[in-house]
Amino acid sequence: MLSRDDVFEELGIGPVWRLREIATGSSQTPAPVVETRPARDAAAQSPEPSAPARFTWERLADAVAHCTACKLHTTRTQGVLGVGDRNADWLFIGEAPGADEDRLGEPFVGQAGKLLDAMLAAIDLRRGENVYIANVLKSRPPGNRNPEPDEVAACRPYLRAQIELIQPKLIVALGRFAAQSLLDTDESIGRLRGRLHSFLNVPLVVTYHPAYLLRNLPDKARAWEDLCLARHTMRSLPSQS
Ligand code: URA
Repeated sequence: MLSRDDVFEELGIGPVWRLREIATGSSQTPAPVVETRPARDAAAQSPEPSAPARFTWERLADAVAHCTACKLHTTRTQGVLGVGDRNADWLFIGEAPGADEDRLGEPFVGQAGKLLDAMLAAIDLRRGENVYIANVLKSRPPGNRNPEPDEVAACRPYLRAQIELIQPKLIVALGRFAAQSLLDTDESIGRLRGRLHSFLNVPLVVTYHPAYLLRNLPDKARAWEDLCLARHTMRSLPSQS
C-alpha cells in the first residue's frame, strides 16, 4: 500500500508541501502544512517531469482509500475520490461526501446529485462525459457537519493531485464551502459568483450548491447565470490542437 509520503513524492509536490509531525503516539498520517506557492511554480523550478507523467490514478485511489490523515477516517465508511471522465475539460467540485456518497463511494448520488445532473444537462453536459465530479473532502464529516480546517488541509493534496491528473480547462466550485476553501477567502458566495476566478492556473466559476438550491428555489435563476458564465468561458478558451 502506498503511504501519503509516497503519494506526495510521486506527485512531485515535495517542495510545496512540508510535513508537520503529529504528537507522538498518534496513528494518523502527518498532516501537510500548506504553502501558497502553486504546484506548477514548483515544477517550473525543477527539472523533474511533471506529476501526471509519474503518478497514476490507481495510486491516488489507493492513497485515498487508505488515508488516515485526519480524524474523519475513524467515522467514514470509505474514502470517496471522485467520478467521471479522467480527461475531462470540466471539473465540478463540491464540499464533502454525505451519507449516500459515503455508503456508495461516489460523489453527488443523493437528491443534490439529481439536481447537479439536471444542472449539467442544462448546459448540455452529462456526468462522466467530459465531466469529472469531486469534493474538497474525500471523507464524510459525521452528521454532515461542516468540514474543519485541519480536515481541509489534510485532504488538499488529493484534490491538487486530481487537478494535476485531469488537467481540466474549467473548474466549477459548487457552494460556499468549496468556493471559499479553493479560493482561500471568506467572501460570501453572493460576491464570489458572477465573475471568473482561478485555482492552480485553471479558470474557476462559483455557483450555488445543489443542496442549497433545493431549499432556495429563487436562486436557481442565479445558478443558471453562473452556468452560462461557465459555458461562455469554456467556449472562449483557446482550443488545443
Ligand atoms: N454534497 C457535496 O458537496 N458532495 C457530495 O458528494 C454530496 C453532497
